[in-house]
Amino acid sequence: MGFSLSNRLLACAGFVRPGARVADVGCDHGYLGIHLLKTGRATRVYASDVRPGPLDCARRNAVKYGIGPEMTFYLADGVRGLPRDFDTLICAGMGADTMISILEAAPWLRDNRYRLILQCQSKVPALRRYVSDQGFAILRETLAEDGKFIYPVMELAYDPGEALTEAQCWLSPALLDCGCPLLGVYTQRVLGNVRKTVRGLSAAGGPEYQSRARLLRELEDLLP
Ligand SMILES: C[S@@+](CC[C@H](N)C(=O)[O-])C[C@H]1O[C@@H](n2cnc3c(N)ncnc32)[C@H](O)[C@@H]1O
Repeated sequence: MGFSLSNRLLACAGFVRPGARVADVGCDHGYLGIHLLKTGRATRVYASDVRPGPLDCARRNAVKYGIGPEMTFYLADGVRGLPRDFDTLICAGMGADTMISILEAAPWLRDNRYRLILQCQSKVPALRRYVSDQGFAILRETLAEDGKFIYPVMELAYDPGEALTEAQCWLSPALLDCGCPLLGVYTQRVLGNVRKTVRGLSAAGGPEYQSRARLLRELEDLLP
């Protein structure tokens, strides 16, 4: 291929259904879309970025790796102005706030013809809370390790049902079912962080302490 994808992006690619038409929002270098086309996983890629510099870099990389008109480029905030005939939206390498604002601006994505593949860099529980409250179901999750970080990667479809509980926003049923070898380490890290927060709040007490302590008990109950 001439470049290697990070484990994060490989995990996103692994959730793409063969023959997909993909919108890669926040494409930056464009490597994910190039990989999907080169491996035949996707038949079409709309690569978008809100900044011209990264988008130019993606264009140059597409030429360098022999990609033709099957990859097109959009200077766009989120999915604004993109053709809507894709079936798979990928947002990777962004924080929850950015992803939520992208999804909030595109209510038409609440349609089960779309699959959403999200790999969030920060505040993952807030992202799960948002997508669940908007009626998205988490179909699958996996974990990818890059350097010292472990990132959840999730696949969603619009399928309103029961919303996730607070604890499930931290460790979703799909994640606990994923069978990934990183799961044990990841769940212990999540628990460790929540325990640290509870310890930090314990002297002051109050509602924030109560709510974090309750979250910790619920998380402990989720684990075998
Ligand atoms: C850290 S890079 C991640 C690139 C690639 N998706 C990855 O995971 O390696 C985030 C990219 O998202 C772009 N971005 C940030 N907010 C965006 C938005 N609202 N719409 C489109 N692109 C956005 C940034 O310009 C940047 O190129």
